[in-house]
Amino acid sequence: MKDLIAQYCKELRLGNRIVEQYAEIEANTNEEFLVKLLQLEIENRSVSRKNRLLKQANFDVLKTFHGYSFEGIELPKSVTIEDLQSGTFIEKQENLILYGSVGTGKTHLATAIGVEACNQGKHVRFYRTAALVNELIEAKNEGSLNRFIRQLEKADLLICDEWGYIPLSHEGAQLLFQVIAGCYEKRSIVITTNIEFSKWNSIFYDERLTSAIIDRLIHHSHLLTFTGPSYRIKNSSMNW
Ligand SMILES: Nc1ncnc2c1ncn2[C@@H]1O[C@H](COP(=O)(O)OP(=O)(O)OP(=O)(O)O)[C@@H](O)[C@H]1O
Ligand SMILES: [Mg+2]
Repeated sequence: MKDLIAQYCKELRLGNRIVEQYAEIEANTNEEFLVKLLQLEIENRSVSRKNRLLKQANFDVLKTFHGYSFEGIELPKSVTIEDLQSGTFIEKQENLILYGSVGTGKTHLATAIGVEACNQGKHVRFYRTAALVNELIEAKNEGSLNRFIRQLEKADLLICDEWGYIPLSHEGAQLLFQVIAGCYEKRSIVITTNIEFSKWNSIFYDERLTSAIIDRLIHHSHLLTFTGPSYRIKNSSMNW
């Protein structure tokens, strides 16, 4: 019997979870058994989907809101901690700019927001900005830029971490602009940076390109300022 169940599950593309778990289901009626079996499959699919989304998002390190302190973060009036935790800004295609000095929790918050979005079934892509730009340049050189951009466009949320930490080439800046312009009013972007807007010229060189990027990013966006001390130094075991 078990072999037959396994075979049918395979034919129906149900995976092997039902075969592994059906014997443990306790039920008094056929209906109760069937309901519990279907529930089990639904739960299993939801877990696999979340794991798939988390893998696809490609976070540097997995971090959540658990234990995350919002102390030292100045929120604009337009957004609350609950909005950030529930990700409502993503449904509204709004952007977040997380600005502040090193070690103040920008990447942690961006990641926690992204992880929660994956848990809600949303598509997320996490990139260090320099890595994204490198991939864009590579894709262009290989003639697969359109395909790469189409992949990016599947995301509900694009996270560009360490925005402006590494200067870009002219080509890199143009490609990044193309991505940002493609996201405009269609999907959310979260940027983490320690460079203030007035200095973005030094990232993109070209003044027109810089204004065009800033214009698109800050329309429908919330600026969060991280003012605390570096958590890295605070929690360092080194004696200075
Ligand atoms: N508010 C916070 N609550 C709990 N842990 C935090 C908080 N902020 C930062 N941390 C921890 O401190 C370390 C540094 O934080 P993070 O990497 O997010 O800093 P960052 O602002 O992205 O810095 P950088 O600009 O150098 O990239 C991480 O291990 C992170 O988990
Ligand atoms: Mg960081």
